[in-house]
Amino acid sequence: MSQREQWSSKLGFILAAAGSAIGLGAIWKFPYIAGQNGGGAFFLIFILFTLLLGLPLLLAEFVIGRSTQANAINSYKKIAPGSKWHWIGVLGMVSCFILLSFYSVIGGWIVAYLFKVVTGGLNHLTSNQYAEIFGSTISDPIISIIVQFLFILITIIVVARGVQNGIELASKFMMPALFILFIILVIRAVTLDGAMEGITFLLQPDFSKVTSKTVLEAMGQSFFTLSVGVSVMVTYSSYLPKNQSLPRSAFSIVGMNLAIVLLAGLAIFPAVFAFGLKPDAGPVLLFNVLPTVFSHLPFGMFFFGAFLILFLFAALTSAFSMLEIIVSVISKNTAQRKKWSWIIGLAIFVFGVPSALSFGILGDVKLFDKTIFDLMDFMVSNVLMPLGSLLIAIFVPLKMKKSSLYEEIIKGSKLFKGLFNVWYFLLRFVAPLLIIAVMLDVLGVW
Ligand code: PHE
Repeated sequence: MSQREQWSSKLGFILAAAGSAIGLGAIWKFPYIAGQNGGGAFFLIFILFTLLLGLPLLLAEFVIGRSTQANAINSYKKIAPGSKWHWIGVLGMVSCFILLSFYSVIGGWIVAYLFKVVTGGLNHLTSNQYAEIFGSTISDPIISIIVQFLFILITIIVVARGVQNGIELASKFMMPALFILFIILVIRAVTLDGAMEGITFLLQPDFSKVTSKTVLEAMGQSFFTLSVGVSVMVTYSSYLPKNQSLPRSAFSIVGMNLAIVLLAGLAIFPAVFAFGLKPDAGPVLLFNVLPTVFSHLPFGMFFFGAFLILFLFAALTSAFSMLEIIVSVISKNTAQRKKWSWIIGLAIFVFGVPSALSFGILGDVKLFDKTIFDLMDFMVSNVLMPLGSLLIAIFVPLKMKKSSLYEEIIKGSKLFKGLFNVWYFLLRFVAPLLIIAVMLDVLGVW
């Protein structure tokens, strides 16, 4: 996809941007981080951050991308020539490099589970047995590296060919199917004996459990699930025709994302408590809980297989966007796109191997009390993404004229006229102050 090409339809852009947003963040990461941070209060803070920070920033990235129609570096250069602001784009590329290196580990786990379901042997086990099987799979160095490689391989192949066709076509069917399957899953989970405790855990805030770490994680999670702060959304919206409403796209992406987060929470926590598992099991939570829930459904393993395929797809569409932003900056034409997709994709794989081994032979290697995998995730979600978001929140009001921002926002729908000032205020004042406050709080400044 060259810079001048455009999404074939409005739906195409929304699906691709939503595809980038909805992924492991909402489905895998949210339940486990919420589980580690006490549930309800975390969920509430996460929603607040999503509305006060994530949504305005998403819209800001859309405005940068669509108004310049350029990639993650040139868009900043076009707006502020001769300045250093394009380093926001470089920061985004570095973030996405690290991000994909550990994201692919979890993507690989989905591939591994899919193999297990297809080859049989997962029927009617207890939740502990599922956890054991899963634990031994991901701690196996060879298996974890192979499946990680497979996940990256698919990503490379799709990005090398240009993301547009693949994503647009498939998302139209996959996304709705994922929603439907989730709803079935939630119905099953909330009707299990003992489910109520899980629902309470997710929906009833207990603020005594909130620490500065909880707040930081909730902020990082809101950026992570919306893919903001790393210029991915700048890149995607640069392919967008001029006549489409940016706020409408932003609202629908945030809405879909929150819906999936809620569904994932309602599918996981009731089951966690009903089966007597621990909500703070960490990254393995979803993978330990889900097979048991599915095994309580008729044709459970069939549905589990279907779920894994959709889940894999959701993870892949996010992965595409991470590689896409790097490749679209470095390659000048289609032939180069192929070459760079492979070079960068393979480099990411090599860089990601220690993260894959963090659940097995490198499990005891810790830096700052974190495994390599956790450290990579922490760096991206809680340091680089907030930093990128902070810079974008400063950049847009500082370097773009308020009147042209207004034009860009109301194009395609005058409905948002009144909301422009709210957005501008959130972006200019609330976002920077809030991000800085959360960072200082974690550093123990007050
Ligand atoms: N939003 C994606 C998810 O939730 C992760 C992501 C972050 C993708 C940043 C691209 C850029 O899985």
